[in-house]
Amino acid sequence: MEGDRQRPAPAAPLTDHLQLLLHRSREAKNCAYCPYSRFPVGAALLTASGEIFTGCNVENACYSLGVCAERTAILKAISEGHTSFRAMAIASDVCDTFIVPCGACRQMMREFGTDWDVYLTKADGSYIVKRLEELLPLSFGPEDLKKV
Ligand code: THU
Repeated sequence: MEGDRQRPAPAAPLTDHLQLLLHRSREAKNCAYCPYSRFPVGAALLTASGEIFTGCNVENACYSLGVCAERTAILKAISEGHTSFRAMAIASDVCDTFIVPCGACRQMMREFGTDWDVYLTKADGSYIVKRLEELLPLSFGPEDLKKV
C-alpha cells in the first residue's frame, strides 16, 4: 500500500530494554522539581551502547529558566560522551492522554538523528511509540547547515 511505503521504518525492537526504560522514566518523574506548574515529568534515554540516562523537569522562580525532563536527560547523556540514541520514554501524571514533548525538546532530540523512537506514556503505564521524524516532520538539522 502506498501509505505503508511512506511510513517511516520502525527501529530495531527494544524488547530487552523497554520495560526498564519505561520504569526509569517513571522513577525520574519522582525527582521533578516543579513547584510552579506542579506538573512532574520524567524521561529516560537509551543510548546506542545500552546505557540509560534519566532526567526530570527543573523549574525556577525565574519561570523562563525552567528545563524540560527530555532536555535534562539529553544534556546528561551528551555531557557524559553519548551522542547516539535508540529511544526515549517520557512519563507524567496525565491520565487521559499520552504525554508529548514540547517543540523545543523535539528539536533538541532531532539534533541527534531522526530515526529513533519516543515512547509516550499515560499515568497508568500504557504507551504509544512515535519515530522522531513523526514527531517533527520536515525538520531542520545539522545536515542542512552543510547545504550552502
Ligand atoms: N514539561 C516537560 O518536562 N516535558 C514535557 O514533555 C512537557 C512539559 C515540563 C515543563 C514544565 O516544567 C512543566 O512540564 C509544565 O509545562
